Amino acid sequence: MENALVVTDVKKRYAGGTEALKGVSLTIPKGEFFALLGPNGAGKTTLIGIITGLVTKTEGSVSVFGIDIDKEPERARSLIGLCGQEINFDPWMKPLDIVVNQAGYYGIPRSVAVPRAKRLLADLGLADKSDQIGFKLSGGMKRRLMIARALIHQPKFLILDEPTAGVDVELRRSMWDYLTTLTKEGITILLTTHYLEEAERLAKHVAIINKGQIVANGSMEDILALHDGTASGYGGGKLEDVFMQLTSTT
Ligand SMILES: Nc1ncnc2c1ncn2[C@@H]1O[C@H](COP(=O)(O)OP(=O)(O)OP(=O)(O)O)[C@@H](O)[C@H]1O
Ligand SMILES: [Mg+2]
Repeated sequence: MENALVVTDVKKRYAGGTEALKGVSLTIPKGEFFALLGPNGAGKTTLIGIITGLVTKTEGSVSVFGIDIDKEPERARSLIGLCGQEINFDPWMKPLDIVVNQAGYYGIPRSVAVPRAKRLLADLGLADKSDQIGFKLSGGMKRRLMIARALIHQPKFLILDEPTAGVDVELRRSMWDYLTTLTKEGITILLTTHYLEEAERLAKHVAIINKGQIVANGSMEDILALHDGTASGYGGGKLEDVFMQLTSTT
């Protein structure tokens, strides 16, 4: 089966000396809904930055649908849609323009981009906001706008770095439905989240990263089976217990 992503022994040492990734290997088959979980500072955003060409790696290799990101960076990037952790659009711009402008980076003509952007904004429940200035949107609306923008060039691989942070329960559920329809259309998704019940509901595969190293990687069933059966007292679900056992510093 074709793989959407193959990460091989990737290391990252930042200028200050922090070893953010200490040899990470990861494979995501095409069509998968994959969750990358880990505590704050584990290295998730760093790994995503490397995959999307925003961060230079120190060692290792990455390929996206068989394309090496070092050899053909633009081609690899054109296959990826990124909804980053930080809200990073121009707050003075209107949602429709934000999404249409993004299309320009991929050489998509306006005549194609405008109807496509309108459709995406409507699908994400932002149709009536497309002429509202960006900073007037609520936090949840900003997140949805970032997803619309990430999809404008019809990427085969969508990377979402904490897309539901600060999003209320109802909206989060509608985002889950939306992401599920995307995977049904064949889009591969890599999601990071601190809401473990969200990962448990959506993802077929999970990797847990801690201090720059993958500490568990497998199907959701495999990961849940790591549970030793004893209630941890954390009061969360099974995935939360496993997560805490693998990442707890105490
Ligand atoms: N630009 C940078 N320069 C130096 N160190 C960095 C930089 N970006 C991240 N780091 C460090 O690399 C490590 C991993 O950070 P990263 O942002 O990848 O974690 P994360 O898993 O995404 O965390 P969170 O869940 O909080 O978003 C941390 O120790 C962080 O301080
Ligand atoms: Mg992060």
